[in-house]
Amino acid sequence: MSSATTATTRKYQLFIDGQWVDSDSGKTFNTPNPATGETLAEIAEADKSDVDKAVSAARRAFEGKWSKLSARDRGRLLYKLSQLIEQHAAELAALETADNGKPIKESLYVDLPQVVENFEYFAGWATKIEGETIPVPGKMFNYTLREPVGVCGQIIPWNFPLLMAAWKLAPALAAGNTVVLKPAEQTPVGAMELAKLIQEAGFPEGVVNIVPGYGETAGAALAAHPGIDKIAFTGSTEVGKMIAKAAADNLTKVSLELGGKAPNIVFADSDLDQAVAGAMMGIFYNQGQVCCAGSRLFVEESVKDEFLGRLSDKAGKIAVGDPMNKATQMGPQVSEEQLNRIKGYVDIAREEGATVVAGGQPPQLDEAFQKGYFFTPTIFSEVNNSMRVAQEEIFGPVVSVISFKDEDDLIKQANDTIYGLSAGIWTRDITRAHRFAKEIKAGVVWINTYNMFNAASPFGGYKQSGYGREMGRHALELYTQVKSVWVDLSGRPIGWFGK
Ligand code: NAI
Ligand code: MG
Repeated sequence: MSSATTATTRKYQLFIDGQWVDSDSGKTFNTPNPATGETLAEIAEADKSDVDKAVSAARRAFEGKWSKLSARDRGRLLYKLSQLIEQHAAELAALETADNGKPIKESLYVDLPQVVENFEYFAGWATKIEGETIPVPGKMFNYTLREPVGVCGQIIPWNFPLLMAAWKLAPALAAGNTVVLKPAEQTPVGAMELAKLIQEAGFPEGVVNIVPGYGETAGAALAAHPGIDKIAFTGSTEVGKMIAKAAADNLTKVSLELGGKAPNIVFADSDLDQAVAGAMMGIFYNQGQVCCAGSRLFVEESVKDEFLGRLSDKAGKIAVGDPMNKATQMGPQVSEEQLNRIKGYVDIAREEGATVVAGGQPPQLDEAFQKGYFFTPTIFSEVNNSMRVAQEEIFGPVVSVISFKDEDDLIKQANDTIYGLSAGIWTRDITRAHRFAKEIKAGVVWINTYNMFNAASPFGGYKQSGYGREMGRHALELYTQVKSVWVDLSGRPIGWFGK
């Protein structure tokens, strides 16, 4: 048995105004370890009145202590936080794996280092957010101030719990905003642990408030709250639309990072070893629970059989099982709901006439993991782009393989989706690669690679994959607003209406 399954149940309260408090209702909810189904933690459940308190605390902090701090001090706090996270990386990674199910190899070597990187990167930005002077005509001086937006509501998903918190918190805080963060109900533990480190780093009370709870209650209350100035959301396109509607009533600023159905394209002239490995990385990483997953795998007809053979062979060898084991490459899905959703799509694929060439069912595992939400790496072939399995986000280790003959037709099909988050292409022809990068409607394009991220590089969607860009300098656009200031230098009355 893994250590996570033998641990006693952890308990967390809400983190509001620098204090750990029970929810007003006194209600709690449990988060299971998805590998075993056992309860990992019991969490206070925030609802509307708790969200109200958190928003008020964030407002007080925004108007008060936080705005009086220098940019340098904000940066230093963020840097301190990045260092604390780094010091606690091993235990945070183990908790992340216990709460989410992702292999420890990923939590430890990918998620946690990227969390640290994001706080570190935005710590550096705090002192570099500047206005401009504008060369206006006449005896006038015009300059801009780049100011924080104010109180930011941030709602995050369960697939990269800590990393999504970092993507949201780091730029918001660097720019001088205060935050009410709602983690996903499936994976609240990382954010609560982060709250402890935020306290330890010395952030003033109320700058970051964390209100775990359900989407329909706490999440909806936050999105519709008239006391927030901005709402940032990552999750399903369906809920993204609800957030945008709720925000419309108060004209709250919105940024959305939503679903995807990314084309990952393999041309016959590609290095097939590289392309097979890239296709695997594209769909099987993090159990396939990735918004930018390469879930539509377009393969040029002439290499389709060979490619599919190699891919199925490798998919069958992926080590599925105990996520706490360092050799494990695929853990459980995050929840029973997600597992059932995936099983449902396997049935849909068969009904639509696709062929299941690998996986398609849960794996056989040891006793300890029989209540876990595991599924095997799954490949559908004979898919055409209009099928539901090619159009709807499955969000699991399930790839739809579609063959193509020529490039024009390929581009049309690749763009024939409501989504536009990411895309991949595998080819040795650089002209074709860059032509594709230009023609594809997606926020991120990977050429002969996949799932590459850096805190300095923007990420976000075209079309129904959302709006706004996270990470890099672009994230600061989301968390600042521009004020234009005009100053008369002539010392004379405006002449328009006479003297
Ligand atoms: P979801 O969009 O319902 O959940 C994401 C976050 O939104 C969670 O914190 C949740 O509590 C919150 N939320 C839910 N309903 C809300 C509401 N009415 N108002 C405010 N906040 C709300 O996603 P869910 O149900 O967990 O997964 C369903 C599907 O969504 C997945 O199968 C996948 O296709 C997609 N998804 C996409 C993600 C991405 O990274 N783009 C992440 C998670 C899910
Ligand atoms: Mg939902």
